[in-house]
Amino acid sequence: MTQQYVAAIDQGTTSSRCIIFDRDGRIVSVGQREHRQIFPQPGWVEHDAAEIWDGVQQVVHEALEKGDITPDQLAAVGITNQRETTVVWDRETGEPVHNAIVWQDTRTDDLIRRLGGVVGQERFRERCGLPLATYFAGPKLRWLLDEVPGLRERAERGEVLFGTMDSWIIWKLTGQHITDVTNASRTMLMNLHTLQWDPEILDAIGIPAAVLPEIRSSAEVYGEATGFLAGVPVASALGDQHAALFGQTCFSPGEVKGTYGTGTFLVLNTGTEPVMSANGLLTTLGYKIGDQPAVYALEGAVAVTGSLVQWLRDNLGLIASAPEIETLALTVEDNGGCYIVPAFSGLFAPHWRSDARGVITGLTGYVNKGHLARAVLEASAWQTREVVDAMNTDSGIPLTSLKVDGGMTADNLLMQTLADVLDVEVVRPMVAETTCLGAAYAAGLAVGYWKDMESLRANWHKAAEWSPRMDPKVREREYRNWTKAVQRTLGWVE
Ligand code: G3P
Repeated sequence: MTQQYVAAIDQGTTSSRCIIFDRDGRIVSVGQREHRQIFPQPGWVEHDAAEIWDGVQQVVHEALEKGDITPDQLAAVGITNQRETTVVWDRETGEPVHNAIVWQDTRTDDLIRRLGGVVGQERFRERCGLPLATYFAGPKLRWLLDEVPGLRERAERGEVLFGTMDSWIIWKLTGQHITDVTNASRTMLMNLHTLQWDPEILDAIGIPAAVLPEIRSSAEVYGEATGFLAGVPVASALGDQHAALFGQTCFSPGEVKGTYGTGTFLVLNTGTEPVMSANGLLTTLGYKIGDQPAVYALEGAVAVTGSLVQWLRDNLGLIASAPEIETLALTVEDNGGCYIVPAFSGLFAPHWRSDARGVITGLTGYVNKGHLARAVLEASAWQTREVVDAMNTDSGIPLTSLKVDGGMTADNLLMQTLADVLDVEVVRPMVAETTCLGAAYAAGLAVGYWKDMESLRANWHKAAEWSPRMDPKVREREYRNWTKAVQRTLGWVE
């Protein structure tokens, strides 16, 4: 039977999905399943990796069934995933030894300060492109090695394995212990220049090399799946934001994409040399396709955007479903003087302040739930503005248009607000599921399903566009107010 399709598994922060694509990059079918968010203490966030693996199998079945597709019709399967979330599992039994520690978790705060010592946050920047922050996987692994009884000894004996979600799923599918350069670039443990684990950082953070996966490119056949996808080549892995860059076909230096999911992540392709940021951005891998040179990127990572909408739904009960945020926000003309800075995990780019916590400011008796809904949407836009300002300064080339994707881009009010506060065109492609599309593209390239990257560009079509229409004076006044609100989050945790 001809292999007509490529599947992508997106193991995300709140759900796992499988999307099957055809050769034109069109969606054939989708399976999706949420998993539990476990909050053992304020600031701690965990996932059950075994539950996630069950969910992944179910969503693949669901996508195959809905598309009336059998595994032998799949040319390849690609993996994309929430990054930094840290799993350790037993090599023999395949059981996780502890809940996975999620990227949003701040439990390594003290450890991060200790690791910084007199040098501070920038200690490893030159080697790994990242500031010391609770966000990244290496220190989370160190926490597990310190806190789970006997784990360090077992790690040193090679009895347990570490991975981010890509490694966990590839290992479950193929039995190979592998990660790709994009995911490895989020651990703080990979040297950006050699694309190998950095012995000095491993030593400084206290990580035994025996526990680490092998680092491979983002697009090559890692192995054939066994079990329910038996025989299908597992042929790509990219962290979700890198996959979205690839799915948006941002293949040229200077091209930028913004993904609006749980958080918001702007990624700028900077070409084949790493560029260090002087303005709070992360230097990371864009992608590496087989033997071709690695492509680097600058990233502005914002921890809380879509998850603020979920918080309004789940913790405050102000809306029954996430899309209702737009309807509620449209009941009023503006934010009524109210600003919300959702520093739930501290502040990420460009501030990198783990001592920050969220604020709602500007409250008066006039403010109602419609104004709060506006402030929630505007928080995503202003956080993007801060990142774009940093990108403009780092690159010296002002952004003129932003390619967007992700669930929140269905919200027209947010997209208009984004165009207004950035003062640039905002453009959404026909296939807004660019994360899965990018993983599918990389897997398809690895097995020759797609000929080359140029042919992928031809699949990109514009679906919608928003132009700025905000009075510049209002924009500047609102930005000043936002900046004042941000100042009020800092230093909350002593
Ligand atoms: O770095 C975290 C990011 O990869 C999570 O993405 O879409 O699962 O919120 P998402």
